[in-house]
Amino acid sequence: MLMVDLIEKKKTGGELTKEEIDFLIGGYTAGEIPDYQMSAFLMAVLFRGMTPGETTALTMAMAHSGDMVDLSSLGEHTADKHSTGGVGDKTSLVLCPMVAACGGTMAKMSGRGLGHTGGTIDKLESFPGFSTDMSPERFLEIARTVGFVIAGQSADLAPADKKLYALRDVTATVNSIPLIVSSIMSKKLASGARTIVLDVKTGSGAFMKTEDDARALARAMVDVGRQAGRNMAAVVTDMDQPLGFAVGNALEVREAIAVLQGVDVPDLRELCLVLGSQILTRSGLAPNEDAAREALLRSIESGAALRKLAEMVKAQGGDPSAVFDPTLLPAAAVRRTVRAPRDGYITSMAARDIGLVSMHLGGGRATKEDKIDLSVGVLLAAKVGAYLRKGDPLAEIHAADEAAAERAEEELLACYTFGDAAPQLPPFIRGIVC
Ligand code: URA
Repeated sequence: MLMVDLIEKKKTGGELTKEEIDFLIGGYTAGEIPDYQMSAFLMAVLFRGMTPGETTALTMAMAHSGDMVDLSSLGEHTADKHSTGGVGDKTSLVLCPMVAACGGTMAKMSGRGLGHTGGTIDKLESFPGFSTDMSPERFLEIARTVGFVIAGQSADLAPADKKLYALRDVTATVNSIPLIVSSIMSKKLASGARTIVLDVKTGSGAFMKTEDDARALARAMVDVGRQAGRNMAAVVTDMDQPLGFAVGNALEVREAIAVLQGVDVPDLRELCLVLGSQILTRSGLAPNEDAAREALLRSIESGAALRKLAEMVKAQGGDPSAVFDPTLLPAAAVRRTVRAPRDGYITSMAARDIGLVSMHLGGGRATKEDKIDLSVGVLLAAKVGAYLRKGDPLAEIHAADEAAAERAEEELLACYTFGDAAPQLPPFIRGIVC
């Protein structure tokens, strides 16, 4: 088999066989197929697309390019959740302890933030001493005893994706549904959970700018996961404005703790209830969505979910007292209130740009090597649809110094539009694909 023939076949709209896809993923992972040929192939996929059969074969080949984690010793109720990435997305910090308190087992591998989006691992490192570096044996032990564990992604998990993603990033081939499906689902399938629930974001802060594209991505990921024998559902949700009110690592941890303490942050809490209901029903822990929702709400009211978070932080080397006393989390030296520049409704907020304000404050990375400041970010005081009078608080900037706060204020004000009429808000949950 020759790589040039496979490029030619895809370039002219042909359908590759499973053997051909195994050959190109095996060859590329082993370093036998050069980047220039793989780049040409990726561009051909971007223009020609892939059939569902090809997408499944590509995903399976990438998943099997490294270790397949075996969670079978944890029983039937293992679950994983993945978000396609957004601004202010601290869902895992709320959802995982809720599901664990309801009898589920969340054994998750998560990433760090890059660009305008944050990463769960960075957020968790706000707990003094917290570590996501552990042996496979310890990972399984924490999952078994606590009900949830969050580790960094090991180098042996879907190594084909690591190489391919780096290449896509520099060849303008990220934005292809079969390539995104295979990238995300190869890692999720290799991570081993029986039930996988996906949060596919749509809007200005998301990968998928339109709802149609988000639905197509959700459908394709659910189909691939099903064919691999997993219980699957995808929830399509709004990312036209940040999720919740906090953007920035320790600020987001505080907000997650507040939700677990019973504070109603409407979009964040609803998202956790919807994702959690899908997990509990699909993994056989609840007979229907009403019962699942009730159990999840009870996990908050009883304090069980908050205690689960503390147990997990302790098991992973962190200081659990910070769960009950968030003043122990990193705090920024400077706080500056940003005020509404006029009377009116907030008609839009550029979610991606608000993520960039937090990144420029030091809360995110431009390159993988950057060090981040966990304490900084933006705490929104109002969201789209709110009516404000000139001078009312719009947001609070948490910064390392006055100069950074001043720059952030200017950037942040440019993220908003105001109007005299109340905007029409689309529903936050756009649909469930299963
Ligand atoms: N996230 C991934 O892991 N891969 C993609 O291709 C896009 C988003």
